[in-house]
Amino acid sequence: FSQNDYKLWLQYDSIEDSELKQSYLDAFKAINVMGNSPSLDVSHKEISKAYHSFFNEELKTAESGDGLLILANIDQLPANMRSDVKSDIENINSEGYIIMSLEQNGNKVILITAKTDIGVLYGSFRLIKEMQLHNDLSNLAIIDSPKIQKRVLNHWDNLDRTVERGYAGFSIWDWHLLPELIKPEYTDYARANASIGINGTVLTNVNANSLILTEQYIEKVKALAEVFRPYGIQVYLTARFSAPLESGDVDTADPLNAEVRQWWKDKADEIYAEIPDFGGFLVKANSEGQPGPNNYDRTHVDGANMLAEAVAPHNGIVMWRAFVYSEDDPEDRAKQAYSEFVPFDGRFKENVLVQVKNGPIDFQPREPFHPVFGAMPNTPLMMEFQITQEYLGFASHLVFLPKLFEETLEEDTYVNGENSTVAKVIDGSLSNKKLTGMAGVANIGTAKNWTGHPFGQSSWYGFGRLAWDPYMSSEEIAEEWLKMTFTNEEAFIYPVTDLMIKSREAVVKYMTPLGLHHIMDTGHHYGPGPWVSNLSRPEWNPVYYHKADEEGIGFDRTQSGSDALSQYANPIAEKYSSPETTPEKYLLWFHHLPWDYEMDNGETLWHNLATTYQEGVEDVEEMVDTWNNMEEYVDKERFEKVAMLLQIQLKESKWWRDACLSYFQQFSGMEIPESVPQPE
Ligand code: GCU
Repeated sequence: FSQNDYKLWLQYDSIEDSELKQSYLDAFKAINVMGNSPSLDVSHKEISKAYHSFFNEELKTAESGDGLLILANIDQLPANMRSDVKSDIENINSEGYIIMSLEQNGNKVILITAKTDIGVLYGSFRLIKEMQLHNDLSNLAIIDSPKIQKRVLNHWDNLDRTVERGYAGFSIWDWHLLPELIKPEYTDYARANASIGINGTVLTNVNANSLILTEQYIEKVKALAEVFRPYGIQVYLTARFSAPLESGDVDTADPLNAEVRQWWKDKADEIYAEIPDFGGFLVKANSEGQPGPNNYDRTHVDGANMLAEAVAPHNGIVMWRAFVYSEDDPEDRAKQAYSEFVPFDGRFKENVLVQVKNGPIDFQPREPFHPVFGAMPNTPLMMEFQITQEYLGFASHLVFLPKLFEETLEEDTYVNGENSTVAKVIDGSLSNKKLTGMAGVANIGTAKNWTGHPFGQSSWYGFGRLAWDPYMSSEEIAEEWLKMTFTNEEAFIYPVTDLMIKSREAVVKYMTPLGLHHIMDTGHHYGPGPWVSNLSRPEWNPVYYHKADEEGIGFDRTQSGSDALSQYANPIAEKYSSPETTPEKYLLWFHHLPWDYEMDNGETLWHNLATTYQEGVEDVEEMVDTWNNMEEYVDKERFEKVAMLLQIQLKESKWWRDACLSYFQQFSGMEIPESVPQPE
């Protein structure tokens, strides 16, 4: 197989345009790395690798001269150069960087500097990217800093190497052979993540195994941490709440028990003795059968604060998940996280982040933003996105997720008046939060291209970009990813960017149009299953979510229904209380409406449902056509793989349309419009 798929967005294609190449070689002839550290070493190595690949020339080192690239932490910089960037350096944070074209004794040089060596590494990747994007290097003035602190991948990887909701093979962590065997993939994983600014990785599944906290495994985790450290990536682990009990050292896991608290402190000390920059713990407690403080009649605050206290002396953090829903309160699952967490606002220790999924149900093709965002102004809230496509066609469907992430980040919570966006909750600016974070459930596995679908790489890439800057446009992300991954040819970039941007709405239309949700087949969540109604817990059944009957379809979340809408601030709560003023994309999320309800276009709800399913299919047809015209720009292997996968997507979009329309038609009793093929 070719290596292209493996290399992700770090292809470093040779620069063929001779004018461009010459301009780069004029601006950049040699390198001078000032100072010494593992991060500076990997920066130097990466730039040399890229240089060789772009120009087919070795990058020389030099002390001075025209066209010199200088890499230095600000502390290592000679005084005259330091004064050139004096005011800019005040404007970056500890991970930010500056790239400047400067005059030095009559020579033109490029300086990459930062407050830390990791900042220099990020700046190095940025300079490489400028060349990947074919941007001009002759007059550089780039100043950039991440807007969010903890930019973290969540691997739902089990110790037996299966991956929960993973569709790209097995876990890349080869626990059995660690710590001795260090695979080159670990370094390439770190390079890829550092290139987009990801600075943390939770190695293990949220449905946690306490074995990971034993001495034997800590040694393995340490080996990975050592590979990642020069790249600025901290490792984190999931903590199973009952670990003290399971260890046999104590006979309870009650968070208010002194021995239990001591157990966690000792455990933290033990981990930090091996991994001094260990990031901390991610915890799923009292959710879907996982143990937690409620088992001892204690609260989320009791549980989170106990762990926070254990890692605080080492600057560790706790990411406590708000993804909870219990069997006892089956009225509306969408309400539960808010009900359980909002009353605790302001009571978590300062090194706790409450990690909230983007929407109130579970990573659907479309959900309104989670009502907890904005509702806990005194608690740092961390965004949790899912990069793996659990409910969006696994690794067989092409869906560019940054478009979905962007939609959530841009939504206005209105909690402090207009323009109180979710992005502002997450970057801390809305209520002055010190600790900020964004998590993405990884789509990475042992597949030779890491993500299964070649375009799955773009969602990983885009997650990293949005964690760095939650205000970026998904279009810009798609464009840069395409250029770095495939080619700079405009005849490729424009149509394929368009394809990627539209891919998200396409999946919404052919799976869950007009606010429908959670109607996938149960368990695996692949393909349609709106008819399933036999599972023991009501909220596991698709019928619970669409509520289709002779009267109509949709989930009434207004006052006449579950009243989940009241968890949102005004004007949302008010506006969405009437179907006429609810955005059509959320219509059936908030309302149960008659089949003949008249929509904005004058047609019935049933008519629109049917035609939207059909539009979804037509969108995929368009994706197929667009891609088929791109053959000359893409290597054979990736071209064919995407083309074949798109055929699966096309077939399955029709499956979704036909299955859902046949099923819902039993209730509507209405004709399928002529413009929509009749299901067989
Ligand atoms: C979903 C998913 C589970 C996962 C859970 C979680 O429900 O299907 O596999 O464990 O989310 O986020 O904890």
